Amino acid sequence: MSDLKYIAGKEPHPRERRMIFKNVDREGWDQSIDTYEKDGGYEMLKKALKMEPGDITSEVKAGGLRGRGGAGFPTGVKWGFLPPNNEKPVYLICNADESEPGTFKDRYIIHQDPHQLIEGMVISCFAVNAKLAYIYIREEFPEGAAILEKAIEEAHAKGYLGKDILGTGFDLEIYVHRGAGAYICGEETGLIESLEGKRPYPRIKPPYFPAAMGLYLCPTIVNNVETLCHVKHIIELGGEEWAKIGKPNNTGTRLLCVSGDVQKPGYYEVEVGSLTMGELINDVCGGLKEGRKLLAVIPGGSSAKVLRGDETYQVGDDELTIWDIPMDFDTLAACGSMAGSGGVIVIDDSRSISWVLNNINAFYAHESCGQCTPCREGSLWMKKITDRVVAGKASPQDIDTLYGVAKNIDGRTICAFGEACSWPTESFVEKFKDELVADTKPELSDDILNPESELAAAGLG
Ligand SMILES: Cc1cc2nc3c(=O)[nH]c(=O)nc-3n(C[C@H](O)[C@H](O)[C@H](O)COP(=O)(O)O)c2cc1C
Ligand code: SF4
Repeated sequence: MSDLKYIAGKEPHPRERRMIFKNVDREGWDQSIDTYEKDGGYEMLKKALKMEPGDITSEVKAGGLRGRGGAGFPTGVKWGFLPPNNEKPVYLICNADESEPGTFKDRYIIHQDPHQLIEGMVISCFAVNAKLAYIYIREEFPEGAAILEKAIEEAHAKGYLGKDILGTGFDLEIYVHRGAGAYICGEETGLIESLEGKRPYPRIKPPYFPAAMGLYLCPTIVNNVETLCHVKHIIELGGEEWAKIGKPNNTGTRLLCVSGDVQKPGYYEVEVGSLTMGELINDVCGGLKEGRKLLAVIPGGSSAKVLRGDETYQVGDDELTIWDIPMDFDTLAACGSMAGSGGVIVIDDSRSISWVLNNINAFYAHESCGQCTPCREGSLWMKKITDRVVAGKASPQDIDTLYGVAKNIDGRTICAFGEACSWPTESFVEKFKDELVADTKPELSDDILNPESELAAAGLG
């Protein structure tokens, strides 16, 4: 299938470079294994099975692949954490929970090119010596789960899965496991608990780093759907060549999901760092809505810290406006936010900042697993305060209280949900305090919040 035609109206933008999404929205493309094989599918598995497993990990390390699930952790380094001379079974889990608000990429791989994921997983399992793998997919993706089941069946029938894969002596089974639809099941240790049939309470790290003590307390690799697909392309090009795509330490392509106030929201695959925020918004996404100004961007899913539209960012010797920021891991981190899961949320000046923050807080208050007090109580307190701000029933002091609550969650919890829920509030208050205070009412200044008058009221002042 060399004729790369896309469905009319769904052609990639000229600034895109499609590797992972090469077959998404392609004319005449379907999810069957025959179509995939005609396009060269499973050839990279054949190549990988002739390599030493350790050499595959070396190629992934040489490529500098960083995880696409959120933290951007180097994949080859993670694989290297598996204990040497281990006698327990090793598991590989594909994280298909895709729960971060603003992120909608993994589902398209699953829906339109499931064999790319299966091929990436078989290669990765061979590299880490896993003979059992799971795809943990969220409940809300029943169609995706059925597509994956069928793809696994087809791969079995062709000898790409099961016993003695392609006569190499390597055995592997992959099972699809459907979650119950909770954000915390995307957190890798919560996911593992859920897969074990328990309530998804995240585990504390250390000691429960999955590579050492994961599923059934055995060494386990958890990787995102997109991350595992990249492995196939690294085998095709070789790590060194693949690393030439993108920028040093920010290699490869990545899927960006743009939502919010742009003319053409959608998914775009670009070389990491090849576009600035301005080029992404103005060229690729057709610009802001008519007559609107950029208020803010959340660049990596709802838990990433917000960037103000009119701020400048000091990155090394350069002073960048928001429009100049290259969309790569390191620059977004240097600007005080993160590339996260690739969910770029664009907010224009038609939006109320209080409403946006309240919307985010409502999500996190609903999704806290409740295991740690700061997160369980704090996420709800933040939501209740922003509820009051939006309803015009908050006092200016409430904004300081809101900030204090966020700061007391951050860094004080079992899992990174603590940061995921507190960073939006922290950054919104730091960057948009005047806007938030403008939605409060000074006449509602509440003496109960003032400890001195509280003491006075109790006759103790
Ligand atoms: C609260 C929370 C939710 C997460 N949700 C997801 C998710 O839906 N999908 C995902 O791939 N990673 C998610 N992650 C990150 C995973 O814990 C883990 O780091 C990731 O799956 C590792 O894959 P990668 O190295 O390929 O990125 C989440 C993390 C946290 C703290
Ligand atoms: S930080 Fe929140 S989500 Fe994570 S374990 Fe604690 S209560 Fe649960």
